[in-house]
Amino acid sequence: MRVLSGIQPSGDYLHIGNYLGALRQFVALQEEHEILVFIADYHSMNAVRDGAARREFTRSVALDYLACGLDPARAMLFRQSDIPEVAELSWLLSTVTPMGLLERAHAYKDKLAQGQSADHGLFAYPVLQAADILLYRSDLVPVGQDQKQHVEMCRDIAQRFNHTYGEDLLVVPEPLIPEEAALVPGTDGRKMSKSYGNAIAMFASRKEIKKAVMSIVTDSTPVEAPKDTATPLFQLWSLFASADEKREFFARAGEGGLGYGDVKKDLLERLLAYFEPMRERREALAARPDEVEDVLVDGVQRARAIATPVLEACRQAAGLGRG
Ligand code: ADP
Ligand code: TRP
Repeated sequence: MRVLSGIQPSGDYLHIGNYLGALRQFVALQEEHEILVFIADYHSMNAVRDGAARREFTRSVALDYLACGLDPARAMLFRQSDIPEVAELSWLLSTVTPMGLLERAHAYKDKLAQGQSADHGLFAYPVLQAADILLYRSDLVPVGQDQKQHVEMCRDIAQRFNHTYGEDLLVVPEPLIPEEAALVPGTDGRKMSKSYGNAIAMFASRKEIKKAVMSIVTDSTPVEAPKDTATPLFQLWSLFASADEKREFFARAGEGGLGYGDVKKDLLERLLAYFEPMRERREALAARPDEVEDVLVDGVQRARAIATPVLEACRQAAGLGRG
């Protein structure tokens, strides 16, 4: 199976939702599958309008990938824009993509609902994402729940293109959503997201992580009373505990006597311990930027070898170029 996914360089940190929803799966999948993981810098142009910032964020995501355990000997790690052919495939696909399909996309609908006007880039975003997936004939796309719709649109677009130009041209992919961390809650209980300001950054300082953990919403249930474990604090806690620990802890919560402050302290220690080895790896790598760049150069060469014949077959089938 060929696996592919990407994360946008849209800020200076990734958060634990990105890790549990996406990155952790990439790392697990590299053991058994061919995997391509890219930095979606073209996509980030919808949100980040500063070139220098994008370069910095791109470097930061590359470090995150390596720090989290993606192994460049197995995974192909690359910058999306280093294979600009994806923009050509995006055009080909856009000619078979109904307006109605794109009008139903969440990111676009949300923007309109907020009363903001959208650019064509945001409207066409799912087509570029489809091109990312289809250019490499990917079978599986590991993403968090919020990206499921985009993969479904990609399936629809691939089927339409195949139907028009040739049934075996493009592989119709499947999304892979992690069961236990499909939608990691943020400190305010909504989906954890960079854009909501409710995120716990993976590699922030102890002080910042503590501040975020302490700000997780709770109610005013007194210490002695039983606690509802279907709440963001307990959900977050359980993402860093084993099944046995969870059973025991949730039973204690049900009996009462467990204060929210203690749960937060325990969560903080678990979080810091969990990410510490990755943090150390990240710091070491940050001091060797040339090595990180070499990884991306090698990754893009291997990825291009897959992409070139796929695009060429699509061009031929569509009667483009010399023939
Ligand atoms: P953000 O919403 O913070 O901007 P992105 O859209 O860049 O995050 O997401 C990158 C990857 O991380 C995607 O695969 C996405 O599904 C996953 N992801 C983001 N937030 C969460 C979350 N709260 N829970 C689970 N997965 C998430
Ligand atoms: N849209 C994805 C996000 O915001 C990033 C992305 C771009 C992606 N192209 C992709 C994810 C292809 C999976 C496959 O998180």
